[in-house]
Amino acid sequence: MLSNIDDDPDEESSTVRMARYIAEEDPSSVLEVGCGDGRLFRALRREDWNAEYTGVEVAEYVVDGNRERHPEANWDVAGAYTLPVETGTVELVRSEFVVEHLVYTVRALREMVRAVKPGGQLLLIFPDFVCSGRLASQVLGFSPVPTALERLRQGRLVDSVVSLYDSRVRLPRALKTVREEVGPFPVNLRPQCLTYSEITSPDVDAVYIASKDEVEEWAYNHNLRVTFPWGRSGRFYENAHMSIHKPPRSGRQSPSE
Ligand SMILES: C[S@@+](CC[C@H](N)C(=O)[O-])C[C@H]1O[C@@H](n2cnc3c(N)ncnc32)[C@H](O)[C@@H]1O
Repeated sequence: MLSNIDDDPDEESSTVRMARYIAEEDPSSVLEVGCGDGRLFRALRREDWNAEYTGVEVAEYVVDGNRERHPEANWDVAGAYTLPVETGTVELVRSEFVVEHLVYTVRALREMVRAVKPGGQLLLIFPDFVCSGRLASQVLGFSPVPTALERLRQGRLVDSVVSLYDSRVRLPRALKTVREEVGPFPVNLRPQCLTYSEITSPDVDAVYIASKDEVEEWAYNHNLRVTFPWGRSGRFYENAHMSIHKPPRSGRQSPSE
């Protein structure tokens, strides 16, 4: 049964693009980590991909809703750090706009790769904050007001100038150098959502300073091949779409930190 949550899906969305890719790859099983309300599952069914799908989510009420809407799929309450599957049993693991919300990114990457069958793949979509020079979870200037112009309208001249400087100069520079200065897989310890809990716009709760170069480097260091099925320029420069392939037989090194 398809629900009407997204009966009219955006053909250009990453979910539809991903569903077409998966349907073409035609894996025997898909595990989705941080599946939300089941958008991908519905998109896959629209593409006539009908094999085994499991979606996991941390929020129980979200899983309950998915079970009610789509009892034909498997839905589990679980987090990215402890997936409810045997090692090497899923042909394709997929996670969209989740890794940037995790404090322990490497633990999640390792866990997702663990679930993948030899010869299978892990598909990841995430915003590349280093490439975009933007990070919605970072407070700019002295207030959470979204734009410098808006601050100016509110008569906050100093706040407006400082926020403009922060967004155009300070933040992009800090994002480019954060790995050298902080170390691998850096996180924002004070995301906006902790200071201004009333703000609910996208990524105010992002913590990992997500970078496709860093995730790619991690994968190569663990003998995992990386591809970018849609490339890594244009819209895919700021929104990474990457596939991490597990070798058909286990490599020399296991995915550990
Ligand atoms: C921005 S939403 C994306 C949802 C869905 N993938 C989509 O694209 O519609 C981020 C999702 O990650 C989930 N999430 C957050 N922390 C998680 C964790 N530790 N393990 C698994 N999922 C997590 C949230 O519950 C939320 O559904």
